[in-house]
Amino acid sequence: MSATKSKTYPPTAAAAKRAHVDAAGYDKMYAHSINDPDGFWGEHGKRIDWIKPFTTVKNTSFEPGNIDIKWFEDGTLNVSANCVDRHVETRGDQVAIIWEPDDPNTTESLHITYRELQTHVCKMANVLQTLGVTKGDRVVIYMPMVPEAAYAMLACTRIGAVHSIVFAGFSPDALGARINGCDAKVVITADHAPRGGKATPLKSNADAALLRCKDSVKCLVVKRTGGQTTWTDRDYSYNDMVLEADDYQQPVEMAAEDPLFILYTSGSTGQPKGVVHTTGGYLVYAAMTHEYTFDYHEGDVFWCTADVGWVTGHSYIVYGPLANGATTIMFEGVPTYPDPGRFWDVCAKHKVNQFYTAPTAIRALMAHGNDWVEKHDLSDLKLLGSVGEPINPEAWNWYYNVVGKGNCPIVDTFWQTETGGHMLTPLPGATTLKPGAAQVPFFGVLPVVLDPQSGEEVHGNDVSGVLCIKDSWPGQMRTIWGDHERFETTYFGDYAGYYFSGDGCKRDADGDLWVTGRVDDVINVSGHRMGTAEVESALVAHVAVAEAAVVGYPHDIKGQGIYAYVTLMNGIDPTDELRAELNKWVRSEIGPIAKPDLLQWAPGLPKTRSGKIMRRILRKIAENDFDTLGDTSTLADPSVVEDLVENRMNRS
Ligand code: WT7
Repeated sequence: MSATKSKTYPPTAAAAKRAHVDAAGYDKMYAHSINDPDGFWGEHGKRIDWIKPFTTVKNTSFEPGNIDIKWFEDGTLNVSANCVDRHVETRGDQVAIIWEPDDPNTTESLHITYRELQTHVCKMANVLQTLGVTKGDRVVIYMPMVPEAAYAMLACTRIGAVHSIVFAGFSPDALGARINGCDAKVVITADHAPRGGKATPLKSNADAALLRCKDSVKCLVVKRTGGQTTWTDRDYSYNDMVLEADDYQQPVEMAAEDPLFILYTSGSTGQPKGVVHTTGGYLVYAAMTHEYTFDYHEGDVFWCTADVGWVTGHSYIVYGPLANGATTIMFEGVPTYPDPGRFWDVCAKHKVNQFYTAPTAIRALMAHGNDWVEKHDLSDLKLLGSVGEPINPEAWNWYYNVVGKGNCPIVDTFWQTETGGHMLTPLPGATTLKPGAAQVPFFGVLPVVLDPQSGEEVHGNDVSGVLCIKDSWPGQMRTIWGDHERFETTYFGDYAGYYFSGDGCKRDADGDLWVTGRVDDVINVSGHRMGTAEVESALVAHVAVAEAAVVGYPHDIKGQGIYAYVTLMNGIDPTDELRAELNKWVRSEIGPIAKPDLLQWAPGLPKTRSGKIMRRILRKIAENDFDTLGDTSTLADPSVVEDLVENRMNRS
């Protein structure tokens, strides 16, 4: 493979001139951040307002048995005061949030200034307080992409409550498990969530979820569509309560290491884990990465197309941009509604300067042709970003040439729910871009390539292995909610002394890093992370299913698709109706994003004599690459493989 030989793009003169750092500046700042983390972060920690300034900076240990991560630990602050109040003094009439609705033909966009944001956040905080929420309590947010979702997040931070956002595409079962997982006191939801012209009945999903929860959990309902919902004893109307709410609520003083939010994410085994981020380090890191990676400048309009249900929405719709006093766009819709020009229509309408989306969206839009882009005025765009999975060079080139007209650097940002913010990314004024690579570490990040077998660091260039991080950075997750031991084993158990990302990676001849995809049983479907074990356990929970194995396979638009092998109970017929029912079942157990793309009936699964499923073989068959199945001699019954190959579903 000669990926390193493909065309590269040095910073344009315009980008280099405008940027916060050029190539020499990056080298200098990066060296400072690594050689003297206390000095570096001590200085950059001051970018946010502290109630009581910190006197210590980094106090972290990756030592086996003693994983302990603390940043700025004796400082105190309030996140909503940083994201809202301090800007009211200097830029109260500047727009903080532009809300763009799902359907531009029936609904107007909204412009919310920092001053207005303060009132909304205070009122929401006051409502939560009225419902009995106090410092340290957990609040689950299950909302459409409406401004109230951001108010809810910031309101929690104002009173010191810990939010846990559950993406509105998750099923009642998944929601219920997350409410119980953090023992939430209140769930905030809306009547319906419009998306792509359809509406998800969020409130009735929440009702179904709450049947599995304690009676004491309250449900605060925001009106979005006005669509009908049932009303129960535990329900409270946000729209009614807000009329009575005070328009000022004092921000609570929080310690830097107090939890800020929990966000569930999939792992290679077991049920999703509640990733915990804390207050000080996370905010510093989200704000700093937002400014440098996107080369954000005063007055820029920034648009991250993610949903606040994912970490990308946390860090780059809400916390990073608002901490920096930016104008951030919250988009309720999807890239292809009402037509495949929607993204570019919104960019033109709001004069977007930085645009940040996922490769899956780029690939989907690319397939609709250039006209949809070309009919919109994109002259305000200065920078494009990519996140969620490796971006294939074809999509990169289209993004660069057709969307960016060759004038906008692309920042391919590698990071994770666990990392809080960008870990590897080109910087627009400093890095010579290589399509498909996340390339270089952000300040303070020390990536290493390890040999997966020996766990030794692989030095030099033109090498590959697994991607680990050698030391802590302020945005790092601190623990798994309620299970610090699982935190230690999941991220530090494989390679002692290192944080293990779960990704494979190579360092090319120039020393640039390429993240090549997960090396564990996590798959990445349209930039959404899914544990194969989760989908398997949903499938086997169905009465007709005896056994199931799930793997990823290459998918043109989604990056990876979900391929399920299902063994039925004795006597059950494999019919198309049953296949449809199992798909529906997985949707209802987890959510639409977990629905298998291909489901193959498997009379048997390839197992070793000790009963372990040989996923390597299943992956190969799913990839339609069955000529190189490797050694099958250790299988208990090699003949099952022939049947699976014969009846494989992916023949592309
Ligand atoms: C996994 C993390 C963090 C935002 C969205 C996803 C993959 C993410 C890239 C990239 C190659 C990437 C990795 C990672 N990933 N960005 N630019 N290049 N791979 O967050 O759901 O926590 O998933 O997404 O495999 O481990 P997430």
